[in-house]
Amino acid sequence: MTFALIGAGFSGLGVAAAFRRHGIDYEQFEAADAIGGNWHHGVYETVHIISSRKTTEYGDFPMPSSWPDFPSARQMLEYLNAYADHHDLRGGIRLSTKVTRVEPVDVEAGTWKVSWERANGERGERIYDGVVVCNGHHWSSRMPKYPGAFGGELIHSKSYKSPEQLAGKRVLVIGGGNSACDIAVEAARFAQSAHISMRRGYWFLPKTFLGVPLVELMQPWMPPFAQRAVARAMARVAVGPYERYGLQHPDHRPFDRHPTINSELLYYLRHGEIAPHPDIERWDGRAVRFVDGHEEEIDLVIAATGFDVRFPFLADGVVAWKDGYPQLIGGLVPPDHKNIYFFGLGQPRYGAGPLITAGADLLCEAVATQRRLEVPLGAVLARLGSRPPRTWLQDPFAVLRQVRLGKRLMPRLPAIAPLIMGARGRRRGPRAPVAATGVDASSRAPSRRAIGGDASAREGFR
Ligand SMILES: Cc1cc2nc3c(=O)[nH]c(=O)nc-3n(C[C@H](O)[C@H](O)[C@H](O)COP(=O)(O)OP(=O)(O)OC[C@H]3O[C@@H](n4cnc5c(N)ncnc54)[C@H](O)[C@@H]3O)c2cc1C
Ligand SMILES: NC(=O)c1ccc[n+]([C@@H]2O[C@H](COP(=O)([O-])OP(=O)(O)OC[C@H]3O[C@@H](n4cnc5c(N)ncnc54)[C@H](OP(=O)(O)O)[C@@H]3O)[C@@H](O)[C@H]2O)c1
Repeated sequence: MTFALIGAGFSGLGVAAAFRRHGIDYEQFEAADAIGGNWHHGVYETVHIISSRKTTEYGDFPMPSSWPDFPSARQMLEYLNAYADHHDLRGGIRLSTKVTRVEPVDVEAGTWKVSWERANGERGERIYDGVVVCNGHHWSSRMPKYPGAFGGELIHSKSYKSPEQLAGKRVLVIGGGNSACDIAVEAARFAQSAHISMRRGYWFLPKTFLGVPLVELMQPWMPPFAQRAVARAMARVAVGPYERYGLQHPDHRPFDRHPTINSELLYYLRHGEIAPHPDIERWDGRAVRFVDGHEEEIDLVIAATGFDVRFPFLADGVVAWKDGYPQLIGGLVPPDHKNIYFFGLGQPRYGAGPLITAGADLLCEAVATQRRLEVPLGAVLARLGSRPPRTWLQDPFAVLRQVRLGKRLMPRLPAIAPLIMGARGRRRGPRAPVAATGVDASSRAPSRRAIGGDASAREGFR
């Protein structure tokens, strides 16, 4: 079996390492010219993580203990490169190769045609026995819309890279998330003036409390209500009423939305270096009118309004969408297709690494289980009550519990499936033989021409 892995960021590298551990053959595609995903090309140069070092490192590869609690983007990139070297992943990665299309070939067998284009214009395609999509969920910019036309410069936070972009400008940042607050704070330091517009109140929590990174204060044994109570108590003690900072009171419970962890926004608000505003009512040239009737002349608006999840290369009909969410059972697999997995879409309340390592092991179990099932794994999981997520927010402890449960359940599914799926769940006789490449010899062995004559790029692959 040969899988195609799409993306060599935090998630894709974690999946590749797990595939190596479990002996699953794969080829990995990375559109960028280097590995690391967001930490290579997607974040502003001054960012430091909000999740702490200990809660962000992969489960199988610690960050150096000499590193700070909140490593920089540069350190994150260094770490991901060290991880790739540690697991000897580089030979399996085709850099500067963007997957342009993924389509089912034989739905019954669960095979997939993957097409790609290299930065030099070369194209190729190959049929794989499976696909793992790790294309990230912080790249497709979500832009807000207001009546009127803005006469200044309007960019998304994705396009914000360095404080030089702010110098000498009257800057308005839109949003109450971590990007908005980080950038508003940079504007307070570097811009002519800094403003922030938030359409509601949010829970702003300090990065550390009692000298400990906030995310490390939450413990696995704490039920959600206790975690919320701790967050409320911390906010009360460390911050006080948000109204004192000119902000709205949160209209939701802590953790009902992604928490904003920032110790500097409130500091600069109290120093008058950032002016808080409610939602925007309309644009009028350079003037921005807010819903409270106040107006400001602005040169640069940075919409830190988040991202959409998208799979632009995926053939229509593979994944259904509802209210902006792909209908993936357990956030991992569609109900009607075999051997396609979507990985790393969740937004955990702390760092990504531990969840990636544990989740990638579960993914490998899922791959092995699917081979023993006649029907799509997603159909079996759906029958057992697993549903598509209705939010990307993740309680990391709940996810780790689900992963542990999933690992125990997966090997049992082939025995359970016939009972819960009826005749559909039974495995039929052996399939056509699978060639050493992992591609069915009968119908799918791709010619060198079919894979784009890309012989040199294939040489490094296992
Ligand atoms: C400003 C900012 C700060 C953050 N801070 C934290 C933090 O403190 N802690 C934390 O845990 N997380 C943080 N994150 C979240 C961050 O997205 C994750 O840490 C991590 O980068 C997600 O990894 P990923 O591999 O899922 O996605 P990405 O990092 O986005 O990697 C996806 C990869 O897939 C590649 N790709 C996409 N489409 C294709 C295609 N068609 N063909 C081939 N390759 C493709 C991309 O080039 C990219 O390399 C932050 C994000 C941002 C934007
Ligand atoms: N230092 C760091 O480590 C750091 C820095 C930046 C980002 N990150 C991470 O990167 C990820 C993305 O963060 P993000 O801040 O870019 O996105 P985000 O968490 O999705 O936040 C988007 C913000 O924009 C608001 N918003 C969305 N649409 C809007 C609209 N039409 N009008 C007004 N406001 C709107 C949202 O408010 P509503 O809640 O009302 O929708 C929310 O406050 C997160 O995981 C975050 O933790 C980390």
